[in-house]
Amino acid sequence: MADERSARPCPAMSSAPHPPRPLEEIFAPIGGHKNGCTLAEYLHFAREVRARAPARLLVFGVGEDSAAWIEANAGGTTLFLEDNPEWIGKIAATTGGRAIRQVRYALPFDDWAAADYALEALALPDPAADLADRSWDLAFVDGPWGPTTGRHQSTFAATRAVRAGGLVALHDCERDREQLICRHILEAQGFETVSEVERLRLYRAPA
Ligand SMILES: C[S@@+](CC[C@H](N)C(=O)[O-])C[C@H]1O[C@@H](n2cnc3c(N)ncnc32)[C@H](O)[C@@H]1O
Repeated sequence: MADERSARPCPAMSSAPHPPRPLEEIFAPIGGHKNGCTLAEYLHFAREVRARAPARLLVFGVGEDSAAWIEANAGGTTLFLEDNPEWIGKIAATTGGRAIRQVRYALPFDDWAAADYALEALALPDPAADLADRSWDLAFVDGPWGPTTGRHQSTFAATRAVRAGGLVALHDCERDREQLICRHILEAQGFETVSEVERLRLYRAPA
């Protein structure tokens, strides 16, 4: 039989704020997994998130790190944009689902390349026009799946979403496509490199 005393909330305990868990404890179980970031990469951006929490955080791509971003940004707004319904289904269970928006990336990377990587040739993912309001503090771009769709549209959306002085992090910057994205989307709009850890590069939006 259940012990009623343990089932009844103790007012003093239930109102006490929980101290935030150390970032190392949150990210250690997922760092370095296949297709994810290393622990050093996660921690590098997570420290920026926690320093600003409660913040407005946009994350392009869901994965086993999604719940960790919500925890690092405790009390803030964390919104995930994801194109793959299978991954939305898998991750919705750990995030409550409400935080994930399904989007479509309609512009193939090769079409953007054929337009000489022009900013004017880019389009936002759909639906994401409402996010291009420069009200977000940080954006983390680790989707869509790089080898197929390309991250030109997600990175472009991130640059239109973050406020002046806000941060955009792009993962997989060792790849040719991501380097083109850095040059033709981030740097072309005046974003400055803040730091680089392994394959993760952080940019600050111009004032
Ligand atoms: C490189 S994954 C990065 C996902 C996330 N940052 C992580 O560490 O698990 C980019 C895209 O691949 C899919 N994806 C997520 N987790 C994945 C995984 N473990 N293996 C393969 N694809 C994954 C999702 O569609 C996601 O938008």
